Amino acid sequence: QKYFYPILSGGEKQRVLLARQLAKSPSLLLLDEPSTMSDQLSREQLLDSVKSVNEAMGISVLLVSHMPEVHRHLSDRLIWVDKGRIIDEGEVEEITGKFLAQLEPIKPLAPIKDERDIMIDIDGVWKKYVIYTSNTLIKTIEMPDINLKIPRGDILGVIGPSAMGKTVLMRLLSGIEQPDRGYVLYRIGTVDFANIAAIGSRRAIEARSKLGILHQEFTLPPYQLVQNAFAQKLGIKKLEMVRQAMDIAKEQGISDVTLDALLRIADMSELEAKQKLEEVGLSMDILDELFPKFPPSEAFKAAKPFLDALNLPEELFERHNGEASAGEHVRLAIAVLMAAKPEVLLLDEPFGDLDPISMRIIANSIKELNRKFNTTILVVSHQLDVVRELAHEAIMIDEGEIVMRGDPDKVCDAFIALGKPEQ
Ligand SMILES: Nc1ncnc2c1ncn2[C@@H]1O[C@H](COP(=O)(O)OP(=O)(O)O)[C@@H](O)[C@H]1O
Ligand SMILES: [Mg+2]
Repeated sequence: QKYFYPILSGGEKQRVLLARQLAKSPSLLLLDEPSTMSDQLSREQLLDSVKSVNEAMGISVLLVSHMPEVHRHLSDRLIWVDKGRIIDEGEVEEITGKFLAQLEPIKPLAPIKDERDIMIDIDGVWKKYVIYTSNTLIKTIEMPDINLKIPRGDILGVIGPSAMGKTVLMRLLSGIEQPDRGYVLYRIGTVDFANIAAIGSRRAIEARSKLGILHQEFTLPPYQLVQNAFAQKLGIKKLEMVRQAMDIAKEQGISDVTLDALLRIADMSELEAKQKLEEVGLSMDILDELFPKFPPSEAFKAAKPFLDALNLPEELFERHNGEASAGEHVRLAIAVLMAAKPEVLLLDEPFGDLDPISMRIIANSIKELNRKFNTTILVVSHQLDVVRELAHEAIMIDEGEIVMRGDPDKVCDAFIALGKPEQ
């Protein structure tokens, strides 16, 4: 009763909202996707609360969810709605069974070679964040001494309880955040490594052209043409274009440090990038000036293999980002990143809260990319089932540390056994 709402965890917020509705003593409770964006344990807590409301208070519940597990846990009867019509209804097992029959089969993972280069080497990285509130300093997270070598061509799953540093790790890997100590090394060339955290070094700029990052809760601008999304990314990310930009920058008296800072900004989410540029009195136009867009025909050539690999219709190239369905949107964003041919993909919660059928399509597409292009891929996800089918190996992060690494099934089982709900 005395807490401020914003500081509650996702799971707590949902239960407060539920309690507030119950305070009105309703006879019918309508719940629209009540357990989205929460991990398995907070989801179960919420569903158990709904169950006790139904049983103890005798309140009927009409529950919308795209997750079969939610219905299995809670529902007595199921209605299947498709394109605005009820197309089936009946027992939960029967209907979820029919729904899941649409799942495409799991594609096999590309086998990993015994001998492979180290692509990324996180060496002795420390990172601490603090925030000031009412004159006190609070440490939000400390990641002490992270060491992790990631072989080329692996898909590495990253799991762990909420707010334990998964996104921070991705941001450190992308060079958007800098470690307080230590190195984030990317292989460039055959023997050499570059520290992506070293601002302004030409080698760091080169390392940056090797990675693509999909941020948590990303969106492509809905009114942007798909072809422009490709053309822009290619202009910023392709090594030849970056080299050209270095020359333009030199002519205009822009230092490598400034250029590098702009390249880092270009890797941020649109919202963060805008904020960062506004802080120094610039707009997003500066990026277009320094990094000329690819011509559309060239952009199409670069995009085509990835539209195919990600199972996206070619016609999408002529349309707007906003016209892609939710599942296509994720694959489109990945295709845009891939067109610049990065060697490393960092995907932070790419599945969000999609339905299992879309998740399977995306997981299969990610495996396809890995197989065809030998891309090293890191995937943060709270969808453990997908991590199990998608990753060669997984790590678990808890309180800022990598506490386990190994077979995805084993790491996922250990995470469940940990029994830590969302904070
Ligand atoms: N820029 C920042 N300043 C202060 N605290 C931060 C910052 N970025 C992240 N944190 C804190 O670090 C912790 C880990 O966050 P994050 O990595 O996003 O968690 P998750 O594992 O859910 O992805 C959280 O408590 C978050 O509030
Ligand atoms: Mg996160």
